Amino acid sequence: MPSIVNGQAHGPAVTFESRLPLASESPNAQGHDLPSNARTLHQTAQLEGLLTIIRSKDTGRGDFVFTSNRIIRLLVEEGLNNLPVVPKQITTPLGDVFTGVGFQGKIAGVSIMRAGEAMEAGLRECARSVRLGKILIQRDEETATAKLYYAKLPEDIASRHCLLLDPMLATGGSVIKAIEVLLDHGVPEERIMFLNLIASPEGMKKVCTMFPKMTVITAKVDEGLNEKKYIIPGLGDFGDRYF
Ligand code: PRP
Ligand code: URA
Repeated sequence: MPSIVNGQAHGPAVTFESRLPLASESPNAQGHDLPSNARTLHQTAQLEGLLTIIRSKDTGRGDFVFTSNRIIRLLVEEGLNNLPVVPKQITTPLGDVFTGVGFQGKIAGVSIMRAGEAMEAGLRECARSVRLGKILIQRDEETATAKLYYAKLPEDIASRHCLLLDPMLATGGSVIKAIEVLLDHGVPEERIMFLNLIASPEGMKKVCTMFPKMTVITAKVDEGLNEKKYIIPGLGDFGDRYF
């Protein structure tokens, strides 16, 4: 398999286009039956190249941060694609009246610290007036059980579309705790959208079954979890590599 480093392909001259299914032929393209409230980004050769870089143990922090940020941007754009719009009439500089659409409602980004904070800048770049909240949840290194330490959310969070940010979905324990915090603060389940880089199939199924009215958008559903509840093949500890 060729590797893509700094935009240059190395290795045998095999194109991804000849090996990857078209997104339109196979929207999830990973052999997993995704729950109906979950979807992946389109599985393009570019995305596969970016994921290959962040998966590699040989990728240093600078390239890891740069490449993760590019995938995060794709996730944020896809999340925004799924927010509701209403018809909106404007007048162009030539005096024509044009009926387009405008976004309906306000949004909040809520990051699951620490790794989720890596996704805040990408959201701010696309949504300037976004309000941000933070929930500190940490997995116990030994048991992989998630523990909630702290939550600070915008006071009007219940009236906003909530984009929940965490790059890794392993057992699902952390994001389930975070969703419970949002529900406790009055956010309707159908207004929660979880943006995620890599998910395990079992974690994805658990979260989507518990909260069938929320939406999950992920870049990739991987093969599973190892005995330490790390995602396989995954990329290791996202927070340790990014920060
Ligand atoms: C990681 C990751 C998720 C969680 C996923 O965070 O960012 O929040 O683990 O695992 P789960 O689905 O099994 O709960 P971690 O607690 O390691 O903290 P960090 O963000 O500081 O690295
Ligand atoms: N957290 C990570 O950063 N990576 C995993 O594979 C699981 C939890």
